[in-house]
Amino acid sequence: MDSVRSHLNEYVTALGRSPVRDLFEISLDPALISFAGGNPAPELFDVDGLAAAFSAVMATEGGRAMQYSSTDGEPEMREAAAKRTTEMGVPTSPDQLIITSGSQQGLGLLSQTLINPGDVVLAENPSFVSALQAFGLQGAEFKPVDTDEAGVIPEALESAIEKWHPKAVYLIPTFQNPTGITMSAERRRQVADILAASDTWLIEDDPYSELRFTEEQQIPISADQRLDDRAFLCNTLSKVLSPGLRVGWVRGPAHVLERMSAAKQANSLQTSTIDQLAAAYYLAHNDLQAKLDGVRAEYRARRDAMLEGLREGLPEGSAMTEPEGGMFVWARLPEGHDASALVYDAIRAGVVFVPGAPFYIAEPDPRTLRFSFVSNDPEHTREGLSRLGSVFDRG
Ligand SMILES: Cc1ncc(COP(=O)(O)O)c(C=O)c1O
Repeated sequence: MDSVRSHLNEYVTALGRSPVRDLFEISLDPALISFAGGNPAPELFDVDGLAAAFSAVMATEGGRAMQYSSTDGEPEMREAAAKRTTEMGVPTSPDQLIITSGSQQGLGLLSQTLINPGDVVLAENPSFVSALQAFGLQGAEFKPVDTDEAGVIPEALESAIEKWHPKAVYLIPTFQNPTGITMSAERRRQVADILAASDTWLIEDDPYSELRFTEEQQIPISADQRLDDRAFLCNTLSKVLSPGLRVGWVRGPAHVLERMSAAKQANSLQTSTIDQLAAAYYLAHNDLQAKLDGVRAEYRARRDAMLEGLREGLPEGSAMTEPEGGMFVWARLPEGHDASALVYDAIRAGVVFVPGAPFYIAEPDPRTLRFSFVSNDPEHTREGLSRLGSVFDRG
């Protein structure tokens, strides 16, 4: 049908759907055990602490909390975001960042601000589907950078930059989504050297680094001051406090943040005033790190149960990552299996996982699949994996 009603924007028309979002509704069925979503465990949310924060804000500043507010973020939240980023090893003042409605909005605004149709974006292969959607909406072309168990391979990055002259490099160096892989400190230095000598933006996405199960703190690549004029660090409260809040931020060079702010006005005017004030109040009146200790211990136990169950339950000849934090394990089934073809068999057997193929920007490996280990306690993880066992045997 050739009418104006069928002529949508070409990039929206071509946009792939996130398999995670498509399985979201299905995975809400309480009869199913879901390993699909990137959802923090709801029973570990500090509901009482957040309720107290919202009440206090409404009691003392209700009118302000209910009102429109600034595009770049409320001063208290910018202050809190700068403090958190500094504690993560990247010295930051409030005027070096803008608040966004989750880091997904940060990725969307960066895409609108930096990318023209046809610009090349380098990314890990596989990578976070919703980031690929955000860049895809601006007509970006993706090229993969080879990785191994220590993250991006520096020589591969160097030659990809030389070959493709990318506009930007998008990386998730810590507890990557979907693989759970973490880039080593040595690699981070090498990547920073390469980017410092290049003419490429770095978009560093870091939602998971505080969910670590070892003592070792991963310092973002953006901490390297040589990159101050070209690095964007996206962060969020989603995985450590609540994704329902929709509060994140982007740290980057001031002249680009100013343009992102103009793009944000066009998109959404602002981030929710009450969410920002409540989040800032919460961070000022609670020791989030102390609370996270409990979350980390529980997630670690859940990770252990998942790895143990997968070691027993995956077919002979499978491989998997062993993440030291974050939310995801990435597995590869033996030759001849197709994870996408098994999804609906798995749902019939009462369990949901996400097939790996849609996460790839090139050469999708149909044998891969992603498991979230945080959503279920060890007992449910064991039960879910035993349900999957029969599906893999048939596959
Ligand atoms: C790598 C990565 N970046 C960004 C996001 C988006 O998080 P937010 O809730 O802050 O928009 C996610 C969520 O799953 C993610 O995994």
